Amino acid sequence: MVTDAVVTDADLALESILDRYGRWPTHLLQMLIAAQELDGWLPPARITRLATALGLPRARVEGVAGFYSFLYLRPVGRYRVLFSDNIIERMQGSQALMAALAARLWVEPGKVSEDGLVSVDTTSCIGMGDQGPAALVNGQPLTRLTRERVEAIGDLIRCGVPVADWPEEFFRVDDGVCRRDGLLGLAMAPGAALTAALARGREGWLAELEASRLRGRGGAGFTTAVKWLACRDAPDPHKVVVCNADEGEPGTFKDRVLLASRADLVFEGMTLAAWATGAREGFLYLRGEYRYLLPHLEAVLAGRRAAGLLGADIAGQAGFDFDIEIHLGAGAYVCGEESALLESLEGKRGTPRIRPPFPVTHGYLGRPTVVNNVETLAKTCLVALQGGAAFARTGTAQSTGTKLLSISGDCPRPGVYEFPFGVTLRQVLEACGAERTQAVQVGGASGVTLAPYEFDRRIAFEDVPTAGAFMIFDDQRDMFEVARNFVHFFAHESCGFCTPCRVGTALLKGYMDKLADGHGAYRDLAEIEWLDRLLKNASHCGLGSSAPNPVIDTLVKFRPAYERRLGRADFEPAFDLDGALARARQMTGRDDAGAHLSNAPEAQP
Ligand SMILES: Cc1cc2nc3c(=O)[nH]c(=O)nc-3n(C[C@H](O)[C@H](O)[C@H](O)COP(=O)(O)O)c2cc1C
Ligand code: SF4
Repeated sequence: MVTDAVVTDADLALESILDRYGRWPTHLLQMLIAAQELDGWLPPARITRLATALGLPRARVEGVAGFYSFLYLRPVGRYRVLFSDNIIERMQGSQALMAALAARLWVEPGKVSEDGLVSVDTTSCIGMGDQGPAALVNGQPLTRLTRERVEAIGDLIRCGVPVADWPEEFFRVDDGVCRRDGLLGLAMAPGAALTAALARGREGWLAELEASRLRGRGGAGFTTAVKWLACRDAPDPHKVVVCNADEGEPGTFKDRVLLASRADLVFEGMTLAAWATGAREGFLYLRGEYRYLLPHLEAVLAGRRAAGLLGADIAGQAGFDFDIEIHLGAGAYVCGEESALLESLEGKRGTPRIRPPFPVTHGYLGRPTVVNNVETLAKTCLVALQGGAAFARTGTAQSTGTKLLSISGDCPRPGVYEFPFGVTLRQVLEACGAERTQAVQVGGASGVTLAPYEFDRRIAFEDVPTAGAFMIFDDQRDMFEVARNFVHFFAHESCGFCTPCRVGTALLKGYMDKLADGHGAYRDLAEIEWLDRLLKNASHCGLGSSAPNPVIDTLVKFRPAYERRLGRADFEPAFDLDGALARARQMTGRDDAGAHLSNAPEAQP
């Protein structure tokens, strides 16, 4: 309990947050998110109080808070507007809209207005690429921003109108489903897939899953049955099922649509995984940008509990006990990586773990854990209902079933499309009406850039694998700027744990900015290729190793976009070394000509 003589309302509110989360350190991130709502930021005294109450070192609590971009250790505006900095939204004018809002509110982007009213800034893609430009205001998504809408928003903020009273239309988020197949066309009563799986018995259900040859939809394409079997067979009896709803890859939004409209399928898939592995505990890790979906998801969970589809003796099966808790993320792309996600679930900084051991044997709190993507879990319902063999009849030999694609960019019909695996890029482009397409970025920033001569390639694990992003660029787009945006994204999202990624992504960004400023030379292109090898070979996780992909792809396939930026043939340093030494000169009291690099003996002709 609080023992200070003066107990404020905020102190009492913090105590109730601590109680709500059982004072478990595993829920530190959830407590920090809730505590931030008291003042809009996390004052030092609150960090201290949390640390004391949880018996954790203060530095640990502050370190966690400092890791997540949606947690603030300094005051921010009472209205926090964050523009989604996705390249597609940039193409739609998001930068000009942000500048217009900032100007209307007399605030500099990235800073808080002097009266503390508002801050305007950018954030990584918020998963609204088909209805952008988009932004978050105090965590709520604003879509389809236009000049008029931004002006209206500026006025609402200046008048201090609470966000809850803003026009509903500003917050409209559509599913935008443009093509349905097996999954999106499925009308399933809650519990139907579970009943079908239970009827087969645990072994029978796992045999169907094996027969389906279902592979993970989160990117890596690992066979789902192999993962579930490994978890089931791990010696520790305390198994855990985790749904990865972090969906942070720029240009991806299909999981958002599943969560918004097919949440029962996702939770039922988690329950099917629990039945297969013997798990009693489940978590859905929801990216902070999708926090607006939380009430809806909690309501679906409550409905499932009431229907006997979660809790004790599920669906009348004695001893089948399982429940699901939703944990929120707080703006860190790396937390989509499964081991970083587990760290975050445990209330820590989202730093990827050293593997092995793998989560299936040592996952959440060291327990055997299945981590699956939202779409993968939803697809297991189809397998349970149709049987594995029927599921495997769609798609290709190595990629069975269908794939949801998040289509955005230069096409008249962006949205979510479900295609059988094996569909060609050309067919996808035709379906969404794209014309004069210069390039498609498949798989988001960490994916591949494909040029027209590759448009007959297929979406499939054996050809062009993807977690779902399909970003279209017509022949008017500058592919250098596309790659530069992705490089900025990686430099911003690098968790900083390993030096090759921390330094390499910053250097890559520096080279791209140098080229953009017209100071690049051929040697910089060679340096970029060297960095590619360094990042691929020495990074600790997939973020670092895939960071150079967009640059290398565009360098090979769209080289003129780089060459026309080369201001000079000879090399110009990436940064001003002489300028960087100014402080050293100041400290040593030397600022004579000889203390400048241009006058050093080796610099003389
Ligand atoms: C940097 C990084 C970010 C990732 N982000 C996500 C994500 O947002 N959602 C996801 O399902 N998988 C993501 N993954 C892949 C996960 O690590 C993991 O492979 C996946 O959740 C496994 O589920 P699946 O087998 O159903 O695909 C990411 C991987 C890396 C390296
Ligand atoms: S590669 Fe990058 S994101 Fe991954 S652990 Fe290293 S610093 Fe962190």
